[in-house]
Amino acid sequence: MITRYRDMAGDEVRVNAFRRAIEAVVRPGDVVADIGCGLGTYAIFACRAGAAKVYAVEREDIILTARRIAEGNGCSDRIEFIRADATSLTFAEPADVLITEDFAVTFVDPSSERLLRHARTRLLKTSGRLVPQSVSLWAAPVSHPDLYRRIDLWADDQQAYGIDFSAAREPAMNTVHKAGLRAEHLLGKPKELHRIDLQRGPEHAFDAAVRCRARAACDVHGVAVWFEAQLAPGVRLSNAPGAPPTLWGQGFLPLARPIRARENGLIEMHIAARIGPAAERAWWQWEVTSGRESADGTTFRAFPTSQADLAAGSVDARPGLSPDGQMTASILRILAQGGTINEAAEVLCREFPDAFTTVRDALGRAGAVARRYGHRPE
Ligand SMILES: C[S@@+](CC[C@H](N)C(=O)[O-])C[C@H]1O[C@@H](n2cnc3c(N)ncnc32)[C@H](O)[C@@H]1O
Repeated sequence: MITRYRDMAGDEVRVNAFRRAIEAVVRPGDVVADIGCGLGTYAIFACRAGAAKVYAVEREDIILTARRIAEGNGCSDRIEFIRADATSLTFAEPADVLITEDFAVTFVDPSSERLLRHARTRLLKTSGRLVPQSVSLWAAPVSHPDLYRRIDLWADDQQAYGIDFSAAREPAMNTVHKAGLRAEHLLGKPKELHRIDLQRGPEHAFDAAVRCRARAACDVHGVAVWFEAQLAPGVRLSNAPGAPPTLWGQGFLPLARPIRARENGLIEMHIAARIGPAAERAWWQWEVTSGRESADGTTFRAFPTSQADLAAGSVDARPGLSPDGQMTASILRILAQGGTINEAAEVLCREFPDAFTTVRDALGRAGAVARRYGHRPE
């Protein structure tokens, strides 16, 4: 876990951009909320910018390390660390400034959208300020034969170990991949797909049609998608190809087959990201047209989703509980009544004798649920 946070802290482009934004936005005496604080770096920047109080919220155990870092930097008296899922929180006093940076590579992400919606409406004053303030999504056609070959590893004639893996091609070609693109891989001028004004609302979903002219005659292999966040007036952070590199890289949407572009020919891109009411992930669809050729992709084809799976996820489904859900419900029932983990394990043994023969077998399961959902005094 710590390596992930070390890598994030080592991404100086992002950390310095947030530092500059926090210095510009936080005023002496402010109450600040750092949502998803990780190592607490931004909470410390907020203290140094004069915040009177910082709520640093994090659902992972890294918060324990964050607290020690704050102590080591003389900020622990002003930072209140809260280990919780921020979407279930309210503060004693709403914040003047809200900082959050749980961005996906394309920015679009249902859980991040839910987090931002809750944070903006429940944790921030109506007159409060956000870091970032707004985010734009951008796209451009890409020509990159090597990247395409790596993604199209399972083309029809590919065999490995004497196994025909061609059935894995369809999901590979319909996935949003993370790529490390440079400006020279872009075949046309970038176009803005969507702008999210976080002060007004966090709607990530969009459906956009944009066009550009090919700067050279060559194959189009897919579309690059990236974000540009306005963190504060005059402070921007972007994972655009050609911008100083960050850990994010860019999103790459591959085409089912490369299509040919003529020099200065029109390339049309239709790109949509949709988010269902209870969605775990966004559904992407993309189509590129150049002259008479066109090719597409959709994450609907990335997973072998059956009609039954789709029906199970509809908002009026009554799915009941799986065996796994029943066990979790039993453990939560005992913990909610004030029972111990051992008592929850005993109940598991009684109610699910096929799954657990001894209390010792059931302790791991009960402990995991307790760690995930139990109240942990700070
Ligand atoms: C990109 S990291 C932020 C790192 C942090 N700014 C730092 O400097 O170390 C995003 C963090 O948000 C946390 N997070 C995401 N959703 C959350 C939620 N709903 N409630 C609390 N924390 C959340 C993740 O656990 C993760 O640590």
